[in-house]
Amino acid sequence: VNPVDIVQLILQNKSLEPQKKMGEGRASTNIALIKYWGKKDERLRIPTNSSLSVALPDKSTLTKITLSDKNHNEVILNGKALDVASPFANRLSIYLDYFRSTSTMYFKINTEVNFPVAAGLASSASGFAALVLALNDFFAWQLTKKELSILARLGSGSACRSLWSGFVEWHAGSKDDGMDSYAEQLDITWPELCAGVIVCEAKAKKINSTIAMQHTMSTSPFFNDWVSQSNKDLMQIKEAIQAKDFVLMGEIAEANAMMMHASCIAARPAILYWQPETLAIIHKIQALRQQGVPVYLTIDAGANLVLFFIQDEKQAIIKALPKAEILQLQI
Ligand code: DP6
Repeated sequence: VNPVDIVQLILQNKSLEPQKKMGEGRASTNIALIKYWGKKDERLRIPTNSSLSVALPDKSTLTKITLSDKNHNEVILNGKALDVASPFANRLSIYLDYFRSTSTMYFKINTEVNFPVAAGLASSASGFAALVLALNDFFAWQLTKKELSILARLGSGSACRSLWSGFVEWHAGSKDDGMDSYAEQLDITWPELCAGVIVCEAKAKKINSTIAMQHTMSTSPFFNDWVSQSNKDLMQIKEAIQAKDFVLMGEIAEANAMMMHASCIAARPAILYWQPETLAIIHKIQALRQQGVPVYLTIDAGANLVLFFIQDEKQAIIKALPKAEILQLQI
């Protein structure tokens, strides 16, 4: 089974002819509390474990798609045309090939991202989710969110969680074709829950998630333990979220992120995403907790941190960590 088979399975006999001049889609990025790190199937992006994220509505991607009059796909990122050979344009182009009905049909993708691309803030998540929504609009497929989630997953795993707001769970699934590997929103409201981002490094990370998770899987002696611990973490964090037990949720999320990074550090050679400032902030957050401020952190495949806290602590957080950009979660 390859990605094209899955696309055909989902689209059935839906049209691959554009139904309008321009298709459009917007999606927020998400930050995982239980991380996706490892694939059972590389090509279909089926994960080794289920994961859980929170949408970051302030950080989003808006993508517009039209037909290109060139003989290749075009990608414009934040107003700048990308070189077709650049990693980002190339990755999009491979994905777009799944949806080209004739060998002479090419797309023009115009995408605006309002946060650092490839800096460990999961820009591929909002990017592929926005692209799938734009394709759905362009071809008027009217797919369900579950189907869109599977299509987004084929572009980037974490993208399958970016079609919803609030808490989202991605079920790893057990089928070989990945038709049961998709995300869904958890039915919960939590308006007091806040987040903050601390950017320690805005430039592109050295090793992208796809390669890093592959390397961790094949060389880290901690990998199997990571998968089994994540399964336990997921069950427990869902209970903590349902009970609105902020401290328990924070403890599990932070421990899960630390274990993901530990599995990377134990890979051979090691993958170490943290910068000195990342570590300094980790210590600061630990000190804040000792002073009685409940705040927890998570870190994706990069040097930047995302903090979680309850509304009442907002002033204490701004005072202690003035660099933090406070985000509206709208859960
Ligand atoms: C650390 O979704 O970027 O952000 O499927 O290979 O594109 P690919 O990987 P990607 O990995 C995200 C890894 C993470 C954790 C997470 O978001 O769950």
